[in-house]
Amino acid sequence: MAEALDYSASSKLDAELLTGHTGVCITGVPIPDMTDEQVEEVRRLVSEYCVGVFPAQHITTDQQLAFIGRLGKVIATPGQEMRTGYEMVQRVADRAGPSGPVSGGFHTDTCFIERPPSFSSLSAIEIPDHGGDTMFCNQYLAYDTLSDVMKNWLEDMRFKHVVSGTDRPEECPDPVWHPAVRTHPVTGRKALYVTFAARCVEAEGMTPQEGRNLIDFLYAHSLKYHAMYRHRWRVGDFVMWDNRCALHAAVYDHGDQSRVLYRVMCEGEKPYI
Ligand code: SIN
Repeated sequence: MAEALDYSASSKLDAELLTGHTGVCITGVPIPDMTDEQVEEVRRLVSEYCVGVFPAQHITTDQQLAFIGRLGKVIATPGQEMRTGYEMVQRVADRAGPSGPVSGGFHTDTCFIERPPSFSSLSAIEIPDHGGDTMFCNQYLAYDTLSDVMKNWLEDMRFKHVVSGTDRPEECPDPVWHPAVRTHPVTGRKALYVTFAARCVEAEGMTPQEGRNLIDFLYAHSLKYHAMYRHRWRVGDFVMWDNRCALHAAVYDHGDQSRVLYRVMCEGEKPYI
C-alpha cells in the first residue's frame, strides 16, 4: 500500500509515494491552475522523490511549456530534431519493431552540456495498449549505498561526458567534465551522477581501463530494483523527473504500436559536489 505523504496542510495538492523511495503521484490540481506555492511544492516533491507522476492531465503543449518554464529556463537538447513549430519541444516517438533496441538504456538527460537540465517532462499523446513503459532509478540511493571509502574517494572525482546518439552532432558542444557525485540544491542530498557508457567516457586522472571499470561499476550499482519506479503510461499522463537525482530508460517492448510523447525540459545549475 503506497504511503500518503503529509507534507502540507494548506495545499490542495495530494501526494502519494509510489514505491518505497522513488516516484510520487501528485493529484488534486490541474497543472495549468497551480499557484506559485503549489509549483514550489512540486519542485520540492520531485527533488525529493526523483519522479513526479500527474495522471490524466491532458495538457496542451503550450501548457507543458508554461509549466516547465515556471521551474526554470526551458532548454532543448543540442543537435536533436524538435517538434515542427516548437523549437523547445521534442517529439519522442519510437516504433521499436522486431529488430529495434529493447531498451533506451538508463541515462540522465543532456549531461554533455555545462548546465544540464534539472527537470525533464513527458506528456503522453499516443500510448500502446501494452508496453512502452518508462523506468526511473533513484541516484540518491545509489550514492547512499556506497561504502564510506568509495564515497570519500569520489569526492574529488570528475567524469567526462560526451554527446551520443544525436541527430546533428555538428551542433553539439565539446565534452564537459562533471563531478561523479553532485549535491542537490533543493534537498542538500548527494546523488551519484553517471550515465551510460557511450556518454560517460572517462574518469579524470585514471587510465582509460581504470576509468571504464569505475564508471561501469557505478552505473551497474545504480540500477537496483529497490531504487526503481516503473511508469505505465496512459494518454494524458504528465510525468516529470529530476535529472540531478534520477536516471530513466524507455522500455521498447511495444512492437509496432505507436508511442508518442512530447518532451520539455528546463536548465539546471552547473553540477557541484
Ligand atoms: C527519454 O529518454 O528522454 C524518453 C523516455 C521515454 O521515451 O520514455
